[in-house]
Amino acid sequence: MLSQAQTKNGSIQWVRQDIAAWRPEQPVDLIVSNAALHWLDAHDTLFPRLMGCLNDGGELGVQMPRNFHAPSHQIITEIATNERWRDRLLGLVRPSPVSDPRFYLDTLSACSSSLDLWETTYWHILQGENPIVGWTMGTALRPIMEALEEDEGRDLLSAYAKRIADAYPPAANGKTVFPFRRLFMIARK
Ligand SMILES: C[S@@+](CC[C@H](N)C(=O)[O-])C[C@H]1O[C@@H](n2cnc3c(N)ncnc32)[C@H](O)[C@@H]1O
Repeated sequence: MLSQAQTKNGSIQWVRQDIAAWRPEQPVDLIVSNAALHWLDAHDTLFPRLMGCLNDGGELGVQMPRNFHAPSHQIITEIATNERWRDRLLGLVRPSPVSDPRFYLDTLSACSSSLDLWETTYWHILQGENPIVGWTMGTALRPIMEALEEDEGRDLLSAYAKRIADAYPPAANGKTVFPFRRLFMIARK
């Protein structure tokens, strides 16, 4: 992906790096992160550190999902921490990686001159059979599936799919509604 990006736009320096270790060579004007920071822990130090990478007047723009208490994600936690899987999967389960907006208000107010913070719940209308399983397979379920052998993964997925089908029955038109909340913030240094 990065080498393709480099070919398409060679004037940008594309870097592969863990965000937890990323430090710009010099302060920057803009940091944008879409749907990534929820994979990192310790937001109480991460967000002030990112603000510290900005020039005065620079901005940090972040979007993170905040849907971890919805059935789509809660059911993962419940299954992965039940007796069969607990020993293997407990360390991979992150029940609430994104804090309450109030936490980001307090944390970012201390290191910004202005702050916009808002949430939006998107009502995704999905097609197909039990489509929320496909959605979480590409995100929250990934680390869990990667930790399991193929047949174990199949068992877990089948238990998950049954519970998801009950939690998200199709609407009258046969499609599945998936309300998904996202938290946004723009902090200016
Ligand atoms: C949902 S995708 C979002 C990708 C992209 N930002 C976008 O908006 O399309 C989450 C991305 O975060 C990346 N990611 C997760 N943890 C990371 C980390 N510690 N450092 C860098 N990237 C990370 C994953 O590799 C994945 O590409």
